[in-house]
Amino acid sequence: MKALILVGGFGTRLRPLTFSCPKSIVEFANQPLVTHQIKALVDVGVTDIILAIGFQPKAMIEKIKQFEEEYKVRIICSQEVEPLGTGGPLRLAKEHLVKDNPEGLFFVLNSDVICDFPFKEMLAFHKNHQKEGTILLTKVQDPTKYGVVVSDSNGRIERFIEKPKQFISDRINAGIYLFNTSVIDRIPLEPHMLELNTFPTMAKEAQLYSMDLPGFWMDVGQPKDFVIGTTLILESIRTKNPSALSTGQNIIGNVLIDPTAKISPTAVIGPNVTIGPDCIVEEGARLKNVVMLKNSTVGAHSWVDNTIVGWDSKIGKWVRIEGLTVLGEDVKIKDELFINGCSVLPHKVISTSINEKGQILM
Ligand code: GDD
Ligand code: MG
Repeated sequence: MKALILVGGFGTRLRPLTFSCPKSIVEFANQPLVTHQIKALVDVGVTDIILAIGFQPKAMIEKIKQFEEEYKVRIICSQEVEPLGTGGPLRLAKEHLVKDNPEGLFFVLNSDVICDFPFKEMLAFHKNHQKEGTILLTKVQDPTKYGVVVSDSNGRIERFIEKPKQFISDRINAGIYLFNTSVIDRIPLEPHMLELNTFPTMAKEAQLYSMDLPGFWMDVGQPKDFVIGTTLILESIRTKNPSALSTGQNIIGNVLIDPTAKISPTAVIGPNVTIGPDCIVEEGARLKNVVMLKNSTVGAHSWVDNTIVGWDSKIGKWVRIEGLTVLGEDVKIKDELFINGCSVLPHKVISTSINEKGQILM
């Protein structure tokens, strides 16, 4: 079977992390975001994955060999000269999607969505209704930033409205689809959004069905959702593979620590913390709701809450950071500062406290 993952787009809402690499290879729960999807696709029998690449192709192309070997799958890059949106990339990759595809089916995924990926159930549902497309739905509190779906009790989609201004329903497009290859011919080879064009048309023609997604779901393309998504996936790991989580006297709740990280036994970690390779947490530090990316450091006696610490960044001693702060790559926070809810661009040194929330430091 085949699948296409949409890994283009500029990832602007996940800045400053996406100044350093594409959104889909930022580590989420200590592995590149897209590898959660690759693994789940391989598990359901997908043998060929097409990565639809736009922005920052070099960083992604460099990773592909590694992903192919690790997950035992063929990966092809389909690279756009100009951004083709969420639909155009399917048309661009038509040849790859149609070739050696006797079942005539393929999965499509937004690269920033995370859940338990019920692909097996989706296949069964799709084969049962026998129409051209199936999309996964989930419920959210604020549907305005998503594609909203209205469907009947059999799952037949009656309306698809992308990012509506007014409340229509709280059931939204989870960004995970299963299509017959005939859907490709509905899409022109130009910038084209599935959500604005193809889905409303398919809904009118009764060719689009929805399946409710069981369990957790999150689009982790924004810092706030990235941190919430981390909490959700850690809870899912707790249910499915609890031995992957860290334990110890200084660990509270769900915590995932790479074996190469060095954590002082007097630092207290958790709940909802992931710590990547080569990270250091010094004595007496306190971390909750924190994502530490590779080779970052939290200094002695610092308090860090609701924060993403970028690669190679260094937080000094007796620092307090909170309020949804994101440190880009290679940021230094000097000792004894208070940092409240700000984004710090890569390679910046911070020497004074930031009390007011919402600032961007460059
Ligand atoms: N190759 C390629 N080229 N990929 C793209 C492009 C492009 O020009 N533009 C966006 N993408 C990719 C993004 O990387 C992401 O994986 C996916 O397409 C969706 O783009 P987002 O920018 O993340 O869209 P969104 O989150 O606002 O909305 C979409 O996802 C929601 C679920 O998270 C829509 O599909 C909504 O309907 C949906 O509810
Ligand atoms: Mg998104």
